[in-house]
Amino acid sequence: MSSIDRRMTRLAPALAAIGALTLTLAGAPAGAQEQAAVTQQAEDTAIGVCGTCHGPEGNSINPMFPRLAGQHAGYLVRQLKSFKEQTRGDPYAIAYMWGMASGLSDDTIDALAQYYAAQKTGPGRSHDPATIARGRDIFEHGIPAQGVPACAACHGPDALGSDAYPRLAGQHAEYILKQLGSFQSNMRKIAVMHGVAQNLRTPEMQAVADYLESLP
Ligand code: HEC
Ligand code: HEC
Repeated sequence: MSSIDRRMTRLAPALAAIGALTLTLAGAPAGAQEQAAVTQQAEDTAIGVCGTCHGPEGNSINPMFPRLAGQHAGYLVRQLKSFKEQTRGDPYAIAYMWGMASGLSDDTIDALAQYYAAQKTGPGRSHDPATIARGRDIFEHGIPAQGVPACAACHGPDALGSDAYPRLAGQHAEYILKQLGSFQSNMRKIAVMHGVAQNLRTPEMQAVADYLESLP
């Protein structure tokens, strides 16, 4: 059994509890008390279930699991719905997130997104200065000769994102690199990011990923 399989086995009772709670809340009339219960349930889920991989406050340690702290709520809601609807379909998304998202109600998804958006982000991680300088140049100016646009145009000058574009600052380089590969191969099928990534070479992706991880 891999350590991830063991982790999933330990999570089974917690997941059954979310299912039960979602069913109970679904039948209750809407109101402030129910909203407070949804918020509390989301926080318990974030810390007790999602936290096993993403860290209790969304600052995961293992670079396989994206950092969620400080990510925009609108982006998080869209991703959780795309896992639930099974449209974000790279292998890790299928293996880890389809099951996690399948039992979440829309209200719980909203409350989880609010929880993570409100968490404090961790510090950036240092990398080789020459690689960071190369990555920063790609982020700010793109690679015009290869038709790669400037990332900053959408993700913002400091990679802080907006509701439409995810925050990239402080994200794990390994996760970013893997996502760029998935956009390139269309395994994660997003037309705009496929266009951005299609002409990026691996060392260029690595440089921009290292630069982004170094940002606070
Ligand atoms: C067993 C580990 C595991 C657990 C538990 C887990 N996740 Fe994930 N999550 C992942 C992995 C792995 C990915 C990255 C998938 C990929 O590479 O595409 C991910 C991706 C995500 C993303 C996309 C982030 C982005 O930047 O696009 C969100 C949002 C997310 N998870 C939320 C949650 C929530 C909310 C829960 C709890 C209900 C949860 N996760 C539980 C492993 C986990
Ligand atoms: C024209 C706008 C645009 C440009 C330019 C752009 N992006 Fe994006 N990017 C997006 C959008 C939109 C998403 C969200 C896709 C989704 O909803 O799944 C995204 C998502 C991402 C993600 C996934 C984040 C996560 O948490 O999973 C990464 C990584 C990324 N972009 C990196 C880059 C890099 C690096 C560049 C420059 C080489 C770049 N982007 C340029 C629009 C853009």
